[in-house]
Amino acid sequence: MASKINRRSFLKVFVTGIFSAIMGKFNKSSAAAAGSDIYMPRQLITKDSTTSRTIMWHSRNPHASLRVDVRDSGGNVSSYMGSGGLFQDDGESFYINKVLINRLQPGIRYTYQIIQDGATTPWYQLETSDNEKMEALIFPDSQCSDGYVTWGRVASGAFNAHPNINMFINMGDLVDNGEAAYQWRQWFNAIAAYMPSKIFVPLMGNHETYNLSWKCRIPHAFLNFFAVPDNESTVFQRYYYSFDYGPVHFIMLNTQFEEIDPLKPGLMEEQLQWLHGDVEASDKPWKIVLMHKDIINYDNLGSSDPMGEIDEVGKRFMPHFDELGIHLVFTAHQHTYRRHGHIYNFEPSDKGPVYVDTGVAGNCRYSVPRTQRFDKIMLPQPETDNYLTIRATSTDISVQCYLPDGQVGDSFVLTNSKQV
Ligand SMILES: [Fe+2]
Ligand SMILES: [Fe+2]
Repeated sequence: MASKINRRSFLKVFVTGIFSAIMGKFNKSSAAAAGSDIYMPRQLITKDSTTSRTIMWHSRNPHASLRVDVRDSGGNVSSYMGSGGLFQDDGESFYINKVLINRLQPGIRYTYQIIQDGATTPWYQLETSDNEKMEALIFPDSQCSDGYVTWGRVASGAFNAHPNINMFINMGDLVDNGEAAYQWRQWFNAIAAYMPSKIFVPLMGNHETYNLSWKCRIPHAFLNFFAVPDNESTVFQRYYYSFDYGPVHFIMLNTQFEEIDPLKPGLMEEQLQWLHGDVEASDKPWKIVLMHKDIINYDNLGSSDPMGEIDEVGKRFMPHFDELGIHLVFTAHQHTYRRHGHIYNFEPSDKGPVYVDTGVAGNCRYSVPRTQRFDKIMLPQPETDNYLTIRATSTDISVQCYLPDGQVGDSFVLTNSKQV
C-alpha cells in the first residue's frame, strides 16, 4: 500500500534518531563478541546454495585481515579471505566487510567463525542445501514504529517454532525508512541471535528507497548491506536476482520502478529481459517469484473495467509469469494476508501462478477491503501479524500461514504445479 508519509511520522523518526545518536552508533547487542569490532554478522544467500555462502558484517574501523574459517564435521578447517569498504550514510561512517565461501559440499552441516585482526566470533552454523528439498520462513513487511519489538517477536517466535528451517526471506519494507541508520540497527538487533546462523534472503521494498525527508533515493543502505547474487547488470546490480535452493528456482524481482525511474531509468525493461533468460535457463521443477508490491489495486475494487482490480505491477509482470510457467508468486506491501489463488490472463482460473500476499511482520497495519473476485482466503479480522513456512520437494510444495498464537491461518499444497 502507498506509504503514509506525514509530518508526524517524520518527526517521530527525527526525535528517535537524535536519541539513537546519543546512545551511540552501535547497540551492544549487535556486537558478535564482547569488546570486538564485529557487528551484525550475517549469512547471505548465493546463486548456488549447495556450494557457497556469503558472510558479511559491520565494523567501526578498517581491519587489515578479514577471514572466515569453515569447519566440517571431521574438524577440517578451510580459510577464506575477504575485503571491506567504507560506508557512509545518515551522517554515520562504518565499514562493511564481506567474505565469499565457495568450496562447500551439498547437504552438509558446517560451522564457521569470523576472524578480524585476531578477534573472533563464536562458531556459527552453516548448512548447505541439497538438490532434493527446500524449507524456508517467509516474513512479510517488518517495518515498525515500536523500535522493532514486534519484528523481533514475530521473527524469534518463528525461528523457535521451526528450529530446523535455516533460511529466511523478508518480502521488503524491512525498515520504515531506508536511510535511518537507527532503524537498520534495531532491525538487526531484533534478530541478532539468529542472523549469523540462518541464510538471509532479502527483497527490496519501496520503504528501502526513502530518505529521511521521505523522498525517493537510490537505496544505498539496502544495496550495501546485502551482497545478493550477481544479476550481471551494470546498472541495477543487487536490485533483483535469482538463486537455486533444492528443487526450487527463486526469482527475486523489484517492483520499485516508480520510485527508481526518476533517479535511474530502465529498471523494468532491463528486469523483464533478464527474467526471460533467467527462467528459461533453469531446469528446476519449481519456479517461484517473490516481489514486494502486490498485484491488486485495492483503491479500485468493483471497477466496471475488467482490468480495474489489477494494479500497474500486475499489468506489467503477470503476462510474463503466465508465459514462463511460474508456479507461485509471493507479494507483500498491503500488510494483510490474502490468498488470491490461481490467476491466468488476469482472470481467476484453475491454472496459472498461485498468488499470495503474505501479510505483515511488523506493527504497521493498513485498512484493506476485500476483493470478492481475487481474495479467496483472508485471515480472521481484525488481523494481527503473521509469517509463512514453505516446504518443497520435486513433486510438492506446501505453504502454511502462521498466526502469533501458533495457529495455522491458511494452508495449501501444490502438487505437480496444480493446487489441491
Ligand atoms: Fe510495507
Ligand atoms: Fe511497501
